[in-house]
Amino acid sequence: MTQLTLALSKGRILEATLPRLAEAGITPAIDPDQSRELLINTSRDDLRLLILRATDVPTFVAYGAADMGVAGKDVLLEHGGRDLYEPLDLGIAGCRLVVAGLPGALAAAERRPLRVATKFVGIARDYYARQGRQIEIIKLYGSMELAPIVGLADVIVDLVDTGNTLKANGLEAFETIQWISARLVVNKAAQKLENERVRELINAFEPDANG
Ligand code: ATP
Ligand code: PRP
Repeated sequence: MTQLTLALSKGRILEATLPRLAEAGITPAIDPDQSRELLINTSRDDLRLLILRATDVPTFVAYGAADMGVAGKDVLLEHGGRDLYEPLDLGIAGCRLVVAGLPGALAAAERRPLRVATKFVGIARDYYARQGRQIEIIKLYGSMELAPIVGLADVIVDLVDTGNTLKANGLEAFETIQWISARLVVNKAAQKLENERVRELINAFEPDANG
């Protein structure tokens, strides 16, 4: 029997997904946090794990290099979700995608294009296009909170969980663009060709599937 491949990403998603896998009776053959191996077998002969960068999970699944994956809704929206099914909201790794800035930043930029610093370029463009608001995007890869402080941007579009990072940097959230959680995604071809095993895994991930 060929193995099914499940794509996960190190960090928050892996931390939140491993207990769900354990509830379904699935444990990695080696601890992904202690190992540099990126392809890991599991206690189930027919299932292996890929350990990826969070933003690469939809790409591996869309191309069929992984049959299934776990990715944040933020990453899925930014990717566009082509060639993917999204059958299950896992309700883990929850946070919000927000517009944030220094107090008064929106009013200050009212009469000119808003300068938006973010790594979520696609999401930010869509959000402001729907409002007919002109913007200028500044693409960043991290430490977004610095941008308004040093005058690089009027606002940021970033993820917020506890709000501690915004608060520590004197920023406030102005608008929530989207509530975010991790989703199980499935390659469209795998869903057809491996329907039974894929469905069984989806069921195993359901919150009350294992009592
Ligand atoms: P990369 O290393 O590829 O840049 P990352 O550092 O954003 O990825 P993680 O921090 O592990 O990776 O988080 C991945 C996912 O966790 C996000 O895409 C999001 O869906 C979810 N998440 C939950 N809470 C937060 C938070 N406070 N900040 C960022 N992401 C969060
Ligand atoms: C994330 C996010 C915020 C912070 C929000 O950064 O980009 O900076 O966490 O969490 P909070 O509201 O609980 O403070 P992360 O730690 O992933 O760093 P990175 O974006 O540089 O990877």
